[in-house]
Amino acid sequence: MTRRGAPVDVVGVGRTFALGAGEVTALRGFDLHVPPGGFCALIGPSGCGKSTALRLVAGLDWPDEGSIDMAGASPDELRRQRRIGVAFQDPSLLPWRSVAANIRLALELVGRRHEHAAVAELIELVGLGGFEKARPAQLSGGMRQRVAIARALVTEPDLLLLDEPFGALDALTRQQLNDELQRIWTARGTTTLLVTHSIPEAVYVADEVLVMSPRPGRVVARHPVAFERPRTRELLLADEFHSAVQTVSASLHRSEGQVVQLDAGADAEAEADEADETGTVPPGADEAGTA
Ligand SMILES: Nc1ncnc2c1ncn2[C@@H]1O[C@H](COP(=O)(O)OP(=O)(O)OP(=O)(O)O)[C@@H](O)[C@H]1O
Ligand SMILES: [Mg+2]
Repeated sequence: MTRRGAPVDVVGVGRTFALGAGEVTALRGFDLHVPPGGFCALIGPSGCGKSTALRLVAGLDWPDEGSIDMAGASPDELRRQRRIGVAFQDPSLLPWRSVAANIRLALELVGRRHEHAAVAELIELVGLGGFEKARPAQLSGGMRQRVAIARALVTEPDLLLLDEPFGALDALTRQQLNDELQRIWTARGTTTLLVTHSIPEAVYVADEVLVMSPRPGRVVARHPVAFERPRTRELLLADEFHSAVQTVSASLHRSEGQVVQLDAGADAEAEADEADETGTVPPGADEAGTA
């Protein structure tokens, strides 16, 4: 299996959205560097701009300022070349298609519909052997997530972007998928960027955990994770693992205590009132107003 992976360099990115009469600055001064074949996890309070950052890196949205570079190519170029695989929280599979046909869809979109071996290999790699012909409704939530990851990987992308892909799953299934994700990443060497709310998950799978500030989000702490690979479940019980989790956790709490810059406009005024009452703006205070 070939090792592939694009570097990702994000420098000084800002993104502001119009919201009602005002605007919301989701990201400002956001920097990120993932080396080729690296595995980076992004954590931060709700509403701090993680999904926004991932959408920008995916080429699904454009920054208002700053730059995003992947070895000389823009996210949009990479996306058009189908060199970016994306799996988000909702696996969004086509219900009338089988497991194999859902995975094959990504190949069909790039005119490679006859590569049956690639589909079969991915089905094995994500542990879905025997379920090739099953429809999404006949699978568990964890199995549907595996199909989504297989579909994101089948075109052998240079970059894999995962936005809380296991958020809705129970702890045991989630751990199992983390093991599989690590195994797939080791086999493929695809540069991977994972957004998660779980600090243990981030520390278990990633080479580096980046902690974001509340909105406008930027990276405020970088935590390299040096545990040997393959990481096994024994690591979850080790003192070094717990202390790494606590270090990241403390860093996240510190970041949450940072002053949040209020956004201009009517919605921001409402936030300011709330901030006066509590002393801080609750993370994601404006989520309800989001499209
Ligand atoms: N299309 C949009 N239009 C207006 N505002 C948006 C849009 N997308 C995101 N936002 C705003 O940008 C901010 C960051 O949103 P984002 O979804 O990136 O947060 P997040 O860190 O992924 O949060 P969570 O952890 O809850 O998923 C939020 O305040 C949100 O309201
Ligand atoms: Mg999000």
